Amino acid sequence: MKRILILTVVLLSGVYLASAQSTRYTAFEPASVWNDTDGNIINAHGGGVIFVKNKYYWFGEKRGRGASEGVNVYSSPDLLNWKFERLALATDTVNAQSDIARGCIMERPKVIYNDKTGQYVMWFHLELKGQGYKAARAGVAVSENVTGPFRFINSFRPNGHMSRDMTLFKDDNGDAYHIYSSRENYDLRISKLSDDYLFPTSKDTLLFSNHREAPAIFKHKKNYYLITSGCTGWDPNKASLHIADNLFGPWKNLGDPMIGPNSELTFGGQSTYVLPVQGKKGAFIFMADKWNPRNLIDSRYIWLPVSVNDGKVEIRWRERWDLKAMKDSK
Ligand code: DGJ
Repeated sequence: MKRILILTVVLLSGVYLASAQSTRYTAFEPASVWNDTDGNIINAHGGGVIFVKNKYYWFGEKRGRGASEGVNVYSSPDLLNWKFERLALATDTVNAQSDIARGCIMERPKVIYNDKTGQYVMWFHLELKGQGYKAARAGVAVSENVTGPFRFINSFRPNGHMSRDMTLFKDDNGDAYHIYSSRENYDLRISKLSDDYLFPTSKDTLLFSNHREAPAIFKHKKNYYLITSGCTGWDPNKASLHIADNLFGPWKNLGDPMIGPNSELTFGGQSTYVLPVQGKKGAFIFMADKWNPRNLIDSRYIWLPVSVNDGKVEIRWRERWDLKAMKDSK
């Protein structure tokens, strides 16, 4: 009996070792399998990244085949090799009445740091359990530590508006904003957040009504750039880029910034975030999700360099690239 047990343990650990492959990455390979430093697939979809004391932290949706299982956080010093930190925000498995009761949908989490309160504040798109995508709310959670665990605070429709795909943006002066798809995704809106970043203020404006979602924003010099997708469920579509020198508009449509094979479908992906690279002037990475609705956990990541040259933005497909290839923007 004892021998059988030992044999089973040895065999099982062999299977485990064989299935978990840890690779030391030296380059980005968009849309390829990307494992964490333990050799498990990175499970952080619709995500965003912040930089804290020499490390990047990647927050994203933890997905099962279809299930929404909370928000994961990973850390990395080099943007290529990611260590799984923890489930940063869990669904509530105890209180079935909670807005984030197990069975809810949490999408597109973004985290920013509030210098005044010393808290990391997470906003995400929340759909209530059993209601499909009807609730259209924003959820807010906080933590004193970047890796969490985050405490759920509240969920609401900002100023009464439906809120689905979303992102957060913290400006250089510390003011922060929530950019969100509203009115059944026909409108894209922006609201300035309260000083503690926990609520929207009444400064809440329509950006444009082009039926767009998946907002990803960045600032270069005096301009704000906003990448969005069309609304075709999990299927990819054409991206567009808007520019403004004021977050509340007017926003000018600059067309599709993607270049290369399948660029008219965002290379098979959908925008989620634009990440400023530390220590490189005006260097940004475009982050997108290549969704696999039949097995959401296996949705892949498309990370590509953004080039900004005198206000002209280009995102060119690359099979394989590294940060050395990134040029400072003009
Ligand atoms: C597109 C959105 O961008 C995703 O985040 C997700 O909500 C899917 N629609 C669901 O169909």
